[in-house]
This record gives sequence, structure tokens and C-alpha cells, in this order.
Amino acid sequence: MCPADTETIGNGEPAWWKEAVVYEIYPQSFNDSDGDGIGDIPGVIEKADYLDELGIDVIWMTPPYDSPHADNGYDIRNYRSILDAFGDMDDFDRLLSELHDRDIRLILDMVLNHTSDEHEWFRKSRREEDGYEDYYHWVEGDPDQPPNNWTSGFGGPAWTYDDTREAWYLHLFHEKQPDLNWRNPEVRREMHDVVEFWLEKGIDGFRFDVFNVMSKPEGYPDGDPDGGWIGMEHFSDGPRIHEYVGGLYDDVLSAYDVMTVGEGMDITPRAAKRYCGPSGDGLNMVYHYDHTMLDYGDGGWWDIVDWEVSEIREALTKWVQQLEVTDAWNTVYLGTHDTPRIVSRFGNDDRYHYESATMLGTLLLTFPATPFCFQGDEIGMTNYPWSSREEMRDADATNRVELAFEEDSAEEFADVADVVRYRSRDNARTPIQWSGDAAGGFTDGEPWIPVNPASEEINVADQRDRTDSVLSYYQDLIELRHNEEALVYGVYDLLTDDHPRVWAFERSLGDERLLVALNWAGRTSRVDLSDAGEVTSILACNYDDPGTDLGALALRPYEARVFRLA
Ligand code: NOJ
Repeated sequence: MCPADTETIGNGEPAWWKEAVVYEIYPQSFNDSDGDGIGDIPGVIEKADYLDELGIDVIWMTPPYDSPHADNGYDIRNYRSILDAFGDMDDFDRLLSELHDRDIRLILDMVLNHTSDEHEWFRKSRREEDGYEDYYHWVEGDPDQPPNNWTSGFGGPAWTYDDTREAWYLHLFHEKQPDLNWRNPEVRREMHDVVEFWLEKGIDGFRFDVFNVMSKPEGYPDGDPDGGWIGMEHFSDGPRIHEYVGGLYDDVLSAYDVMTVGEGMDITPRAAKRYCGPSGDGLNMVYHYDHTMLDYGDGGWWDIVDWEVSEIREALTKWVQQLEVTDAWNTVYLGTHDTPRIVSRFGNDDRYHYESATMLGTLLLTFPATPFCFQGDEIGMTNYPWSSREEMRDADATNRVELAFEEDSAEEFADVADVVRYRSRDNARTPIQWSGDAAGGFTDGEPWIPVNPASEEINVADQRDRTDSVLSYYQDLIELRHNEEALVYGVYDLLTDDHPRVWAFERSLGDERLLVALNWAGRTSRVDLSDAGEVTSILACNYDDPGTDLGALALRPYEARVFRLA
């Protein structure tokens, strides 16, 4: 595919990573090949044909490295080896070649900001071994008084006192995830070497975990105590961040034709343009959380508030409009391993399961950005009915629940159940439902996290055989995206900026004009889109017999239509 010679979104050069559909694999929950209850790399290889049939181009695999799994792999003990439970380096090499044989590329999650406290660098740093003293952020002082008021992303203070070194160390996440000190040139050199190691293996790029919090200001000033995540204004896009990101590009990434996507914490489009695009540090794109924070109230995680269709429409549209003027490329996702299931959060996982799961898929695959689909969303997997603390696994959710019990804001699970069921990241991490058999066909053993009982109705085996399934719809839409260059490079025009339920937009490239209309509600919505012109054909719809009169569109509950226009 190569865009026509005309005005396009992000007027820059065409690139494979702009045209790609990315599929996120969370290996421990994908497919278990050896019956230990934990998904593994041979398990992914077993499903390579499934991935090929789905039609995706790139896999983003969350960290497969050796790790104690305090935060499911985002706490790395050894950057150059594979977690035993996932297999070994031979398995990884085999996976890479099996995927490449099918023209599927592989990008790896790379955690630059922190390691595990079991990494040898931290073990040496804690003992102040020669050369390792400054690998992490250490502050001496009163063991009862942390150096500042910053909080961890998982709740509680961002500092832990270490009795061995008799000093505080910083961890923006779990206490077993100490932050690396990027001011230290040795740390930068080590991390550049790690990145190069994987590129030399032939992988196709990286998703850089929380990349824009790597630079912390000298003196660690207190954060705004009323901020949600206290300290964020100091460590997000910190003082030397462009030197670090640009340095990684100049030193290593620039020599390879790879895809790089940075996970931006509290990032704005303005800040994103300084990382990617022609005037950026060399990253291809970033992704943001604006549309996934809409249901957070002032009380943060515990505070679930209603959201409006207009808010998600505005949040995503703002990124398109602000990035396109500088050629910086955009990303779109609705769910990841860090969010609840999209059909439960943004759709209706009961009465309109098929309709809303496919409507969300339509948005994902027609939006002007590289789309990231999270495993299981292509069959419409749903949130899990959590009923006890023992079932939960995620450090973020369990930490917050423990704190609620310690602070006496909860006495029994029922007091937190609603929020956990809605918010917990574990919702995304229940195993892929391959079949309606025991353990959803994920494992022959005891799964590390419960399998959703919905697996009896919602599973790959059932959907693969049907042309009216969520899975078939995703396959069709992925193919459509590959065939219609306007969906990749076309200009985006929002047609309904004030409709309470309908989100309609046009994608145009030269003479090609496509119209996407989404009804984001469990009721029929009417809209007049006659200004867009005449429909010449219907490219996709999640209902039978869609009407084509744009002057009087009546979109059924969660209906999605993609039209070609004259
Ligand atoms: C973002 C990752 O997506 C999340 O799963 C992890 O807990 C944090 N970064 C910390 O690495």
C-alpha cells in the first residue's frame, strides 16, 4: 500500500508500521502448552495460524523476560533471558521465525524506567558495590520520613526504606520495581546495550513502557498533594527526558527499520510531538490514556463516574487533529492488559454483546492511527465476576484493596466488589477462551488466574465456525483496513460533533471517500448526514439490511456502518 499523491493524515512518508494492525499478546494468559497453568511461548507458536487467519501484522508481546512477576513481568530480573515458565531463548527464536514465516512482525515490551529489586544491578546497588552506587535513586535520611510526598502508581508512597543500604529508594510502581537512575551514563549505556541485544536478534521494534517518566528532577521536589498521582508534574516529561529518548534513538534505534511506540504517562499531544514526528526524538508514535480515564472521578481508582460518548469522541479526535498538523503519527487502542474489557466498559456485554463488541472493533479499525487490538477483544471477552480477594492477582488492584482494608474503608470483599469488578486489570488478564471446554481450552492444568465462566458461550472455537461472530467481523474489518488506503492515510473529518450518541466521521484520500457511522447506545439513534453526499456501497455493517439514505439514517442499537461515498 502506498498513499496517493494527495493530502493525507500525517503527511509524512508511508511506512509499514503506519499500515500495520497490531495485536497485543499477554503471554501468561494466551495459551499454555505444558499444563503448568501459565501461558508460554510454545503456546503462542501453537496459535500462530490463528494469528495469521486473524490477519494482524504485528504482535506486541508484553515482557517475556526473566522476572519474579511481582508486576507480571514489568519487574525484570534479567533483560537477556526468558522467564522459565514461558520457555527459553530457543523457544523465543522459534517464535520469531514462525511469525516471520507468516509475515507477522514481533515487537517486545521494553521496560526502561525500572527493574526488579532482584536484578543484579539493584542487589549490587543496595550493597553499594563499586560502580553500582548510583544505578537507582537513593536518598539518605530519616527512616520514618520519605524524601518527598510522591505516590506510587499502585497507591501508597513511591519510596521504600532499604535496611541494607540505610537509605530510601524510589519506585513509581511496586516496591519491587526500583526506578533506574538515568542521570547515570552507565545506566544509559546498559539500557542501550539491552535494546541493541534484542534488535540484533531480529525483532521488529519495541513498545517502551512508561518511557516519559525516566527523568526525575534534582532534589525530588514535593508534588501537588491534590494531584491524582502525586508527583506526576515532576516526573512526567521530566527535565532531561528528550536527551534520554533522543540518545537512545541516535545511539541504537536509528540503525534499524523498526516500530517504536512509547507508553506516555499523562502525555499531551503537544508533548507527544516532541517525541515523534519530524521534529521529535525519533519515536514513531506514543499512546495516551485520555479516553481510558474518562470514568475516573476526583477520587481516582475508587471513584467510578459516568462518561458520555461526546467525551470519548472529543478525547480521540483531539489527538488526531493536533498530531496531523506536524506529521506525528497516532495510535488507537480501546483496551490493553491494563484496562477492563472493552465490551464491558464501553459497550454492553449482555444484551448487545455482538453489536457493541463489533461497533468498538469498527472504531478501532477505521480510525486514523495504528490500531492496537488486545488479545481476546476480537471475540468480545468480558469482565470477570470477581467474588473474593483470593481470586485476584494483579499487584495494582490487590495493593489498593489491601490499603482499603488497612485504612478501614472496607471490611469485607463486598465493600470493594463493584469497583474491583469494574476496574481491576485482572479483567483483561483472564485466559483466552479458546473453547467451551474445561479451563476454556487454555490449559490442561490449573490456570494461574481464574478462567471466565463466560467461556462456555464466548470462545474462539465457536466463533471460528460462524460467519456472524465477533471474530469473523474483526477478520473482515482487518482485511478492509488493509484494502482501503483511505483508512490508513486518509484525512479524518468529524461529522457529528454534537450528537449525544452517534459518532460519524469521514476518511478521505484523493477521490476515495469513506464514511463511518457508529451508534454508541442501546437504542436506535437517528442522524442526518446528507451533507456528506451519496452512498455508493456498503463496506461493513454489524446488522443485516443497512439503509443507505444518509439524510435519514436510523442506526440500530450499537450499529456500525462503513460506506463508500460518491
Ligand atoms: C505500564 C504497564 O502497561 C503496566 O502493566 C505496568 O504495571 C506498569 N507500566 C509498570 O511497569
